[in-house]
Amino acid sequence: MKEIGFEALRRWTSRGLRLSTAGGSALRSMDDTNSFTLLVQRALELTSARSAADIGCGCGIPTIEAAAGGARQVLGVDIDAINVKLARRNVLRANFGDCIELRCADWIDALRGASPELIVTNPPYVPHGVHPAVDGGADGARAIRTIIDTVPDTARHLALLFGSISNPLAVLRQLDERGWQIGWLAAHVVPFGRYTRQPVTLAALRRLKFAERAWFHETPAGLRGVQRKYIVFGALATRGAAPTSLEDSMAGLLMRFQRAGIPGLEDAALPVPIECGVYRAAVAGPAPRVQAIAPGGSRRVAAATCEPLPRRGDELVATDA
Ligand SMILES: C[S@@+](CC[C@H](N)C(=O)[O-])C[C@H]1O[C@@H](n2cnc3c(N)ncnc32)[C@H](O)[C@@H]1O
Repeated sequence: MKEIGFEALRRWTSRGLRLSTAGGSALRSMDDTNSFTLLVQRALELTSARSAADIGCGCGIPTIEAAAGGARQVLGVDIDAINVKLARRNVLRANFGDCIELRCADWIDALRGASPELIVTNPPYVPHGVHPAVDGGADGARAIRTIIDTVPDTARHLALLFGSISNPLAVLRQLDERGWQIGWLAAHVVPFGRYTRQPVTLAALRRLKFAERAWFHETPAGLRGVQRKYIVFGALATRGAAPTSLEDSMAGLLMRFQRAGIPGLEDAALPVPIECGVYRAAVAGPAPRVQAIAPGGSRRVAAATCEPLPRRGDELVATDA
């Protein structure tokens, strides 16, 4: 069974690079950043793009991955000054200062006048998310819509991370309307994290699930209450490629996932290559602990290193579905 581990992140964090957490991008969970780093890796392998822009770059690790994957000119943009500072430090530590430019700006302003071949982005996509770094508005797709509408004409490829909770069929429809075709798709199942578990977010998610604008799976988990999982999609879209009927097959996939959970992914028949995987907490053992808390108060925690990363069979494991 092929395993999807956290190698993408471990590669950088083991060299002293840091993930952003509360105060900056508020991403304590590594799932998204890891899925996104894998997407960036694959996007570079599949497109051989020479220039790229990472829109909402956070701590900059996926931005660095784009440069490591062969892009000579990489622009990383984030609206949060703490993230940009952290990304700058990470870029220098990784020795990519000569090909990565970082900007603290709104992505709309940064994309105006930019001409990267490839745009990569992990935008905020949690419906009614309680932090700006994750808040995707009423249906989770507000930032995604803006980005798809703003991508400059010069960009040939778009690597987009989004969730089964963020109105995925509408995202596919919008990509299609703008002339984007998905050629490669990764699907990772992840447990709800600290943002998806917030009461206001959960209430919105239940309404959206009923309206088939969000898909997630719920299983009774004994004393631990209900276990909820959703799918993180990593899509590589290209302009002007042959059309795919992804929306229909994706609708089927999402329905099956909603009904049956993870097994719904295993027999997914999508017209594009799909790589399925599951990130899940180990059944036994302590709750996932993904970061070391730096001494010296909450400000220090904001930039705390994520070392030691969990090892397989230890705190978080990642396996194929
Ligand atoms: C979900 S986080 C992703 C961070 C990073 N790319 C990763 O994968 O770890 C979304 C990022 O988008 C940034 N962001 C949100 N709105 C933005 C905007 N209007 N312009 C630029 N960046 C924005 C947030 O500060 C946050 O760092």
